[in-house]
Amino acid sequence: MITCRPPGDKSIGHRALLLAALANGRCGIRGLSRAADVTSTATALRALGAAVEPSPGGVTVRVPARLRSTTEPIDCGNSGTTARLLTGLVAGLGLSTVLDGDASLRSRPMRRVVYPLQAMGARIDYLDRAERLPLRVHARASGALRPLRHRPRVASAQVKSALLLAGVTAPARVEIHEPGVSRDHTERMLAALGAPIIATVSEGEATIRLDAQDWDGELSSFDLEVPGDPSGAAFLIAAALLRREPVTVQGVGLNPTRTGFLEVLRDMGADVSERQGRVCIGEPVGEIVVRPPTRLRPFEIGGHLVPRVIDEIPVLAVLAARAAGRSRIEGAGELRVKESDRIGRIAANLGLLGVPCREQPDGLEIHGCDAPLEGHIETGSDHRIAMAFATLQAEPGNRVHIDDPRCVEVSFPDFWAQLDRVAS
Ligand code: S3P
Repeated sequence: MITCRPPGDKSIGHRALLLAALANGRCGIRGLSRAADVTSTATALRALGAAVEPSPGGVTVRVPARLRSTTEPIDCGNSGTTARLLTGLVAGLGLSTVLDGDASLRSRPMRRVVYPLQAMGARIDYLDRAERLPLRVHARASGALRPLRHRPRVASAQVKSALLLAGVTAPARVEIHEPGVSRDHTERMLAALGAPIIATVSEGEATIRLDAQDWDGELSSFDLEVPGDPSGAAFLIAAALLRREPVTVQGVGLNPTRTGFLEVLRDMGADVSERQGRVCIGEPVGEIVVRPPTRLRPFEIGGHLVPRVIDEIPVLAVLAARAAGRSRIEGAGELRVKESDRIGRIAANLGLLGVPCREQPDGLEIHGCDAPLEGHIETGSDHRIAMAFATLQAEPGNRVHIDDPRCVEVSFPDFWAQLDRVAS
């Protein structure tokens, strides 16, 4: 049995830092990921006046006075979560700042957060291209933001979280109706820290209500041990499946809005069990055990499952390349506006390896095959494309070279060492 432990969850790490900077006292965050994306959020908070300091096993966060405006642009690096959540937080606080990012982040849509924030009364301008970074949030001298009722076109945790952070800090009433259930860390953490937030799910759609208008805005300080990242674990599990070995992942987050990929692995014939241990700030943590089937079966992904597997689709697509038959992914057009156009990248790289694959506007059709796979993967410096295709190195007989191995630093700095342990 292979045993592994993924790095601290990236999504929870961002949120822990941001909420710690709003809490009413010093907060401790252990097990914070060292990934470049999470560091982008920590660096941004320092620029806004927070003291984010190393402590044994993590960081402490305290805000000596209030967070303050910045004159230098804040560089969000490659991190969409940093850029979008910070836009909401800064707009809610009424601070002035410029947010920017690398070439990939500058090409990603920002309107989805900017437009509803403008509807709340925030003043935000694009400084170069319309609806893209860099953008300027203007200071708001007085007056709260207006209440918002919003129906985003796609289920997006980044959009939802940006608007909730604006509502918490303004304060303003925010109601969001999502066409699916995206990851709900912000809601869980806000509720655990005392915010008046209620989330309900009906027929696969989510309603989130933050009744902040009569609230004093106090968030309790906290000590958190960040659960392991299920999205990071997915790559290690895939590598073990390709090696046909059972694997145990320890200390991993089991939030059901993140574990949709386990359902897909069950559809593929794997024997998957989850054992829940502690709950920390509303987040369940435990162990996942996956045993491989004799032959992987093909799968179908679509509808309400998509937001719950959105970051795992690249690695599931790679597993589909080794399944006995045709797998289909649909309703996943959002993948085209991630760190790269992931639908295009997956199709191109499967094609390079000789795996029959048809690209659709919002998905992929992949025909699994048995032949050993050889080729040079063009990642477009997208961390999840790199790690997804790297799992093929764990399967005896394949020779798969990754063009930019360093891009994994964005989310999983220890990835290559951990993959080696699974593959040897
Ligand atoms: C994230 C939300 C998802 C996900 C991203 C992290 C988050 O993006 O793809 O890797 O931490 O909120 P969207 O909200 O754009 O779907």
